[in-house]
Amino acid sequence: AQTVTRNADGVLTVGGVDVVSLAEQHGTPAYILDEADFRGRARAWRTAFGNDADVFYAGKAFLSRAVVRWLHEEGLNLDVCSGGELTTALSAGMPADRIAFHGNNKSTEEIRRAVESGVGRIVLDSFQEIVRVAHIAQSLGKRQRVQIRITVGVEAHTHEFIATAHEDQKFGIPLADGQAAEAVRRALQLDGLELIGIHSHIGSQIFDMSGFEVAAHRVVGLLKVIRDEHGVELPEIDLGGGLGIAYTSDDDPREPHEIAKALTEIVTRECEAARLSTPRISVEPGRAIVGPTAFTLYEVGTVKPLDGLRTYVSVDGGMSDNIRTALYDAEYSVALVSRASDAEPMLARVVGKHCESGDIVVKDAFLPSDLAPGDLIAVPATGAYCRSMASNYNHVLRPPVVVVHEGESRVVVRRETEEDLLRLDVG
Ligand code: LLP
Repeated sequence: AQTVTRNADGVLTVGGVDVVSLAEQHGTPAYILDEADFRGRARAWRTAFGNDADVFYAGKAFLSRAVVRWLHEEGLNLDVCSGGELTTALSAGMPADRIAFHGNNKSTEEIRRAVESGVGRIVLDSFQEIVRVAHIAQSLGKRQRVQIRITVGVEAHTHEFIATAHEDQKFGIPLADGQAAEAVRRALQLDGLELIGIHSHIGSQIFDMSGFEVAAHRVVGLLKVIRDEHGVELPEIDLGGGLGIAYTSDDDPREPHEIAKALTEIVTRECEAARLSTPRISVEPGRAIVGPTAFTLYEVGTVKPLDGLRTYVSVDGGMSDNIRTALYDAEYSVALVSRASDAEPMLARVVGKHCESGDIVVKDAFLPSDLAPGDLIAVPATGAYCRSMASNYNHVLRPPVVVVHEGESRVVVRRETEEDLLRLDVG
């Protein structure tokens, strides 16, 4: 867990560094990421699954070269879904054979680069892509290891935009109507491909294991069809990511070892029933590793009480550094972290500095009623899908990622500057 404490003045300290010094040294807003916490979570996933399974960290949650190095050292693999993520991974020394390449519309150029650099697997997402990857691999004189992503028809209980296994959406090849079986048939015929397994990702921020259970059941069902039809037992299955984390005290996430145990048991049981040898399992947690390891540190700019409603607390960032509240109605908590206060709590809404009223960071929260400009507040659990989804809306500069570790802080992704903005504007 994060090494978070309060000193005698009520100032929050993380990784041995207090937030007032962090704000002085690095400015606000800033994402503050606890290296020991990140490594601890990565290691917990790794050890929970042991040597019979692989853990691919989903880089889309947050990727930087420091993170890639930690993952490499902790024995995790990496899932990338664009040329940009692939470049970041390779440039930080992740061995290509520990990288999986995802995406529903990889460009020819991205596929070529992935194959050339020797990625461990490409996850195929459509019939066209099966042929495309096969041709590219063949033209490079290679045989590319691939998985086929299927949609198993599970309704994951999460926000519509982050559920991915129901049939009416863009990812994967439906299991329905024999489509997935047909995809396997085609992939097995192509010389440029080595089909190593089937992939399923049912969605994100999920707490209920039953969706995984149904997914595993259906994936194993497909493995059985493949065995019966082609006499091949595919050696791997990937059950994707999606495990939920606690954003507020209402959320009750599972520990990696419970998840590993549940998934392994489900797959083993299903395979025994189908008389298949148990395939090697892999998983792709993103949020569950990086989400809890960072918080966003903001400075309060204005405090505006609206009688009988609530108090609007404006901070120096907003929907450009955390789009999740506006996009998914996501819930966050917030705390005053630069001092102690025993003032009465007030109902507050933490908003950003952007030019629209949907620019909300924390919808409903209690903050001390003596909150004032200059106070620092922290929004926890912003490690996943905040910096990675950050924008320049209103030409606001994207915040840095500051790593704290053993009493030291260092910038791993620097704050954007106005020069950065102007550099792209070449008109
Ligand atoms: N594997 C695949 C194939 C995925 O598509 C994803 C996430 C993951 C693994 C990792 O899922 P995680 O363990 O992080 O839940 N922007 C949204 C989440 C989108 C997730 C997209 N795919 C959010 O902020 O909630």
